[in-house]
Amino acid sequence: MAGVVYITRRETFAAAHRLFRPELSDEENLKLFGKCSHPNWHGHNYTLEVIVTGEVDTDTGFVMDLKDLKEIVRKNVISKVDHKNLNLDTDFMKGKIPTSENIVIAIWNELEDKITKGKLFSIKLYETENNYFEYKGE
Ligand code: NI
Repeated sequence: MAGVVYITRRETFAAAHRLFRPELSDEENLKLFGKCSHPNWHGHNYTLEVIVTGEVDTDTGFVMDLKDLKEIVRKNVISKVDHKNLNLDTDFMKGKIPTSENIVIAIWNELEDKITKGKLFSIKLYETENNYFEYKGE
């Protein structure tokens, strides 16, 4: 047993969204969600961190090949969110308010069973430099 290590793949993406509940007026949405409820959309530059943990494989020296992790994250997440509208374009956000809380949970659900070695430990999403959101599957 070589030890348990946590490995992280970082990706960035730009996406548009609007936080709103359709049954509320624009004014009520503004009160509830602030400027993220602006009716004509706006964007964020997000940073995503996907953290996988596991025993180091004594044959490879890897927990999981980071090249594989990169491809899994790009295929299942980045291709569906980058330069997209999270309300309209992203299948795994359909019917959800695209807050960062809901996005990290949805990304976890997209990735959890696709990790080929080790296991998914955490999804972190930075919406701004000072705000980040983390989900660990519970
Ligand atoms: Ni926003």
